[in-house]
Parts: sequence; C-alpha cells; structure tokens
Amino acid sequence: MSPPPPPVTVIGIGADGWEGLGPAARGALRTAEVVIGGRRHLGLLPPECPGERVPWPSPLRPAVPGLLAAHTGRLISVLASGDPMFFGIGRTLAELLGAGRLRVLPHPSSVSLACARLGWALEETEVISLVGRPLATLNRELYAGRRLLVLSAGADTPAEVAGLLGERGFGPSRMRVLEQLGSARERCVESTAEEWPHPPGDPLNVIAVDCAPADDARRQSLTPGLPDAAYDHDGQLTKRHVRAVTLAVLAPAPGELLWDIGGGSGSIAVEWMRAHRSCRAVSVERDPVRAERIGRNAAALGAPGLTVVTGAAPDVLAGLPTPDAVFIGGGLTAPGVLEACWAALPPDGRIVANTVTLESEALLADWYRRHGGDLVRLGVSHATPVGAFTGWRQAMPVTQWSATKPLAGRGPGGDAADPEGSAEAARAAEAARAGEVAQAVEAAQADEAVQAAEAFHAAEAPQAAQGEPR
Ligand SMILES: C[S@@+](CC[C@H](N)C(=O)[O-])C[C@H]1O[C@@H](n2cnc3c(N)ncnc32)[C@H](O)[C@@H]1O
Repeated sequence: MSPPPPPVTVIGIGADGWEGLGPAARGALRTAEVVIGGRRHLGLLPPECPGERVPWPSPLRPAVPGLLAAHTGRLISVLASGDPMFFGIGRTLAELLGAGRLRVLPHPSSVSLACARLGWALEETEVISLVGRPLATLNRELYAGRRLLVLSAGADTPAEVAGLLGERGFGPSRMRVLEQLGSARERCVESTAEEWPHPPGDPLNVIAVDCAPADDARRQSLTPGLPDAAYDHDGQLTKRHVRAVTLAVLAPAPGELLWDIGGGSGSIAVEWMRAHRSCRAVSVERDPVRAERIGRNAAALGAPGLTVVTGAAPDVLAGLPTPDAVFIGGGLTAPGVLEACWAALPPDGRIVANTVTLESEALLADWYRRHGGDLVRLGVSHATPVGAFTGWRQAMPVTQWSATKPLAGRGPGGDAADPEGSAEAARAAEAARAGEVAQAVEAAQADEAVQAAEAFHAAEAPQAAQGEPR
C-alpha cells in the first residue's frame, strides 16, 4: 500500500507579509516544493522560500482540482489572506480534499484586526460579507445599537453602504472604513452615513457601522409576522397574523429550502429567509407583475437571494431543488399541484397549505383524511369603529392543512410501500383522538354538572337550614 499523500498546508498571511508569519508557517513555506497563491501573496515571500510559485488562475474555484492534481505527491503550501477558513480558500480545499488532508495555519482575519482597532467584542459584532453578494443583504441587519462589520466588495462599497443606510432610515449611523488593515498603509476614515463625504479609497477595506436609526426608521423584527405595510402588495398577501402562524407551522431551520407556491407578494418566502441567513427559498408565481414585486419585497427586507420562478405550478416545479418544506398559498385547485408538492418532499419534509375558498377546503379535507396532519381554521377579527363605538370586523377565515411526510415505515400517514394501510392507520389514530375528545367533552360536562349542583346547594343551603320554603 502506498503511503498517504502529505497534507496540503494552508497558510494565512496578512498585509504585513513574511514579517507577520509565525515559525510554523515560515517553516512550511521554506520546505514547500510548490507554493500556490495569489500573485500579491506570492510576491511577499522572501528568496529563502525556493519552492515553485504557482499563481491562482482566474476563475479560481473550477481550477483548484486540476491544479492540485498537477502537483500530486509534492509538498504543497497554499497562501490565503488572513484566516483561510473565514470566507477563504480553506473552505474550498476542505470540501475537495477533506479536513484530514489539510493543515491550516490561520492568521488574524480582517475582522479580528478590525475588532482589535475598534475595541469591539467579536462575539457581539455582526459580520456581513458583500463580496459577491447584493448590497440589499444589509437590509436584514439594521437594528438600533447593533454593531456591523461589512466586508467590502471594493473601493465603492463604503459609499453604497452609506446610501443604503440613508434610504433605510439609518442615516445617523456612524461609519468607519478601515483600509489595508495590518499594512504600513493602514488608515481609517469616518463620518455618519447621511453625511458620507469620502471619495472611493483603497479597495481592501472593512466597514464598521454603529447602527443608529432616525426617528422615522421602520422597526422590522426578525420574528415572523411583519406588519402588512412592510410589503408592497396588490391585496394578494397572507396577512400578518395568519402569516405568523403559517411560519410557525412551516418551522424553518438553518440551511433549509422552502418552495412558496403562489408567491403573491412573497411574504412567506421572505420571512422564511429572514428566519436565518442560511435559509433559502424559491417563490413560484404565475403573474409576472407579482413575480417582479416579490423580488423587490425580498430585496427591501434583506432576502435578495430569494429565487423567483415566474410560471404556473405544477408545470414549473420539475427540476427545482428538493425542498425541506412546501407552502401552498395559491394554485391549490390547479390539477396536480398538491400531488407534485407532496411527491417532491423528502421523508420528514413539511407541507402547509392555506385557503379561503370552499373548493380548496374540500381538497384539503380530503388530503387530511388520507394523510393525517392538522387541519385548522384560523379566524382573525380586528376592532373597528361602529359609529361612536367599536366592533369586531372578521377577516375571511383561513383553512390550513399541514402535514409531515412520514419516514418509511412510520405512521401516521404510514409507509410509502403501503399508502392505503397507512391512511387506515391515520384514520384509526384520528378516530382514537376523536374518541378522546368525546370523553373529554363528557368529562367536562360531568364536571360542569357537579359544579352547577355545588353552586345550587351552596345557594340553597342557608335557606334550607332556616327551613324556608323553596
Ligand atoms: C393569496 S396569494 C398568496 C399570497 C402570498 N402567500 C403572500 O403572502 O404574498 C395567491 C397567489 O397565487 C398565485 N397563483 C395561483 N395559482 C397559481 C399557480 N398554479 N402557480 C403559481 N402561482 C399561482 C396567484 O397569482 C396569487 O398571486
């Protein structure tokens, strides 16, 4: 058996170059037969590093496997800026080679250096990268008193961030731009976002923001159930209270993918994505005007990564990535929509469907009968003026069916090999539940009867004692 190949050493290097490297990193670079890195980084190495210097080609990601393969069997060191595992090449290499074949020697990241300069606790600082990501990503992060460190895409990013902060009502925020951290050319410029006066500076910069809202800034919680006014809409919007319940039942978890069928204004997908930065969603909307609006709402609320598919379900569902959960807010009666969504779900995936029409409700009742889950009716009333008084105005009640696709061999809902048997099991479980409910009602009624009798006797007793006639 041939010995395992030597690990690839990934070395974090700062703007201070060779001077800033520790003994382990220097030793690895002196003995490396090949050093791969950006041209700027390779240029920082002294002559005492004799290995062949190989610059990364562009684009980098697709070239990595070939480059590593070309040097198999040689001692390889890779240079990366700062901490290679923080938005760096270390991640790509770990995915390709596995952690066991890597030896990573980190340097302080730009974020660690920025926190050191600012006196900020790293664990209380929100870090947002705008490298290869839309500016609108920031819209999810703006809260009074919060400290943000924004990794810039280039020299223009600070002015763009200042503009966005102003538009979102966070103009009074203090902004500091830290350039060339760790090098002899390090400098910091600052101002408030609304007064940002600085021309573009060094492209290597990090932006520190102390979030401060103006008096008219909108407060937008990350908890589902944003005010309806947070969305641009034409009435096709799952309203706030039902939306909050719907998101609770959909139960997003980090990294999960939602299909939002009949996206309308996009509110369900947007709030799913706001639940965690790593949550992903696809919104399917047949109306192109609404589809465009969904994109705008998503950007405005800090979820610019939402994928909007313009077209009618179920036709456009084929080929979409497997969802962890599906929400159906429109298109329920289109033939095949429920079937396609259920079929696309993996075991343990969730489905939630809302409707206000009797036709769709009949469909949901049928799916509930066959697959179990929960069928609930949500009624929301708002207090409104009635002349000089106040009364309840009832919104259309929403019927909601939700279910979790069973794991093979687990009921209710049963296993995939025995759909009818599983439906039987679901019905049996439901019947048992109904039986329990009937018992509970009887018990409550009996309880009420006892209480009524006790109350009667309590009222009667004094008179009876006094021998008063009834
Ligand atoms: C009540 S709205 C959904 C509201 C949405 N959940 C929100 O909060 O904005 C229903 C939407 O479903 C869309 N729709 C209906 N049938 C569809 C289908 N088969 N495929 C895709 N979209 C559909 C309609 O155009 C409408 O915008």
